[in-house]
Amino acid sequence: MPLHRKDLLGIADLEVEEIKLILDTAETFRDINQRQIKKVPTLRGKTIINLFFEASTRTRTSFEIAAKRLSADAINISASSSSVVKGETLIDTVMNLQAMAPDAIVIRHSSSGAPHQIAKLVDAAVINAGDGAHEHPTQALLDAVTIRQKKSRMTGLKVAIIGDVLHSRVARSNAHLLSKLGAHVVLAGPRTLLPFGFEKMVAPSEGSVTLVDSIEEAITDADVVMMLRIQLERQAGGFFPSLREYSIHYGLNRRRLELAKPDVVVLHPGPINRGIEIDSDVADGPFSLILNQVSNGVAVRMAVLYLLAAGE
Ligand code: CP
Repeated sequence: MPLHRKDLLGIADLEVEEIKLILDTAETFRDINQRQIKKVPTLRGKTIINLFFEASTRTRTSFEIAAKRLSADAINISASSSSVVKGETLIDTVMNLQAMAPDAIVIRHSSSGAPHQIAKLVDAAVINAGDGAHEHPTQALLDAVTIRQKKSRMTGLKVAIIGDVLHSRVARSNAHLLSKLGAHVVLAGPRTLLPFGFEKMVAPSEGSVTLVDSIEEAITDADVVMMLRIQLERQAGGFFPSLREYSIHYGLNRRRLELAKPDVVVLHPGPINRGIEIDSDVADGPFSLILNQVSNGVAVRMAVLYLLAAGE
């Protein structure tokens, strides 16, 4: 069954069946990544452009690997080495790329809504690889694949998402996705980093979304603890007194993790600020699935490229 949409712009507008289709497809692609020859001809003759206006290690690399493992031609463009530095606008950049007939454009941009804007202009499938503080749909999808791999279900799980919720596109996409699949999402952080009315942005669904300012309350009996990176690049300052104080009140350490269920799993989208939002002995410890998330990122991006770019 194909995905009956041209673009993947966010989780908010995805139906539960569409989410499950992407997750199930990713699980079939995961096997390819374990083989000695990690390549299938599925997207032979297709062209995928990765257009990144913000820094990335995991997302950009995994989209490139995903395209290549599906035999597509992958082209990477960074804003810093493109004609953007000469003053070319986003729209002009994208229209020029469209003139070269790509099948998909993967875009990361600091402005919320940039992928939505270009999706209206181009024939190519547009995939949001992170837009401002709005959404990062493929991150939430790979997080869900990682949780399902360990827990075999989503319904009824308590998922604590902790940290800089205000600036986090990962938190937003995950709140939509995990609650749609029936999880109970508890977001925690300093009051200044919890967006007012966040719960109301998430449509009523099987699960639930609540906000608390106590990390202990969020972690208690959690099945999954997802830590968020403090996004200093999106902060003008003043959200908390100091990084040291943030770490004392909201950092994940072994003592706090003992409040969670004994079989808790720990996630972090990366990059990690070690010793600030998460201690190294937790990030590298037995409950951590952080590198599993990265591995699953390739399978999820293969699934998304396949479902949007393969055609009939
Ligand atoms: N998780 C994530 O988006 O990481 P990158 O910024 O390295 O792509």
